[in-house]
Amino acid sequence: MSNQPIGVFDSGVGGTSIWKEIQKLLPNENSIYLADSKNAPYGEKSQEEILQLSIKNTELLIEKGCKVVVVACNTATTNAILYLRSHYDLPFIGIEPAIKPAALQSESKTIGVLATKGTLSSSLFNSTSENHANGIKIIEQEGTGLVALIENGKVGAEETKQLLNSYVKPMLKEGMDHLVLGCTHYPYLIPALKGILPAHVKIIDSGEAVARQVKAVLDKNIILNTSNKRANHQFFTNIDPEVLRNFVFGSTDNISVEKLDF
Ligand code: DGL
Repeated sequence: MSNQPIGVFDSGVGGTSIWKEIQKLLPNENSIYLADSKNAPYGEKSQEEILQLSIKNTELLIEKGCKVVVVACNTATTNAILYLRSHYDLPFIGIEPAIKPAALQSESKTIGVLATKGTLSSSLFNSTSENHANGIKIIEQEGTGLVALIENGKVGAEETKQLLNSYVKPMLKEGMDHLVLGCTHYPYLIPALKGILPAHVKIIDSGEAVARQVKAVLDKNIILNTSNKRANHQFFTNIDPEVLRNFVFGSTDNISVEKLDF
């Protein structure tokens, strides 16, 4: 069991930001990553559609022998993880916007959350904000269009910077001192964000915390891979693999990126 891979899925390339943290913390673990780029962005879909896509990805990862599933997508986590946990007999690790640490650290008592429409409208996100943000003003901003630009390999493009600027500037005017990245695609925008945000604004990204949680879950279930064999990482995408390749090649060796219809 411990040699079986960790399964990871996202609507596209964004979840590779999480996969990189997992790989750094757990270099012995084999992994299988599904980039459902054909169906991106999930954030513009209905809850039922997001659920059906999450089920499809989960079942493929189970079929491929994964020992746990990392839902490396805030939109899929907030709309589908409760269902997945109650219907499949393996551990799931998800990611949600990290409101709690931002709320605890904020001095201006004003935090911003940049996320997809699907995440911001989910009941899981709304209950988390109510529970953790007592006395804190939360500015919610949909990042419409950002995922599509990243999926098209335009991370550093001028149009991406301009769109990002148009989302973040009004949040700054309202006094936010923490910006929570509520989408796994957005860590790739951190260099652009640093060029826009004043130095006192802290960017909160939960990739490392998710990796620690994966380790804790493997540990608890006694399925950590302790072998010394070189880990193997298989990436699958249902569109042209070139963009995904650019996001992961060079992170470690033993990576393959292939097209698969799913
Ligand atoms: N990476 C997904 C997330 O974390 C992107 C969602 C989308 O495809 O819109 O929410």
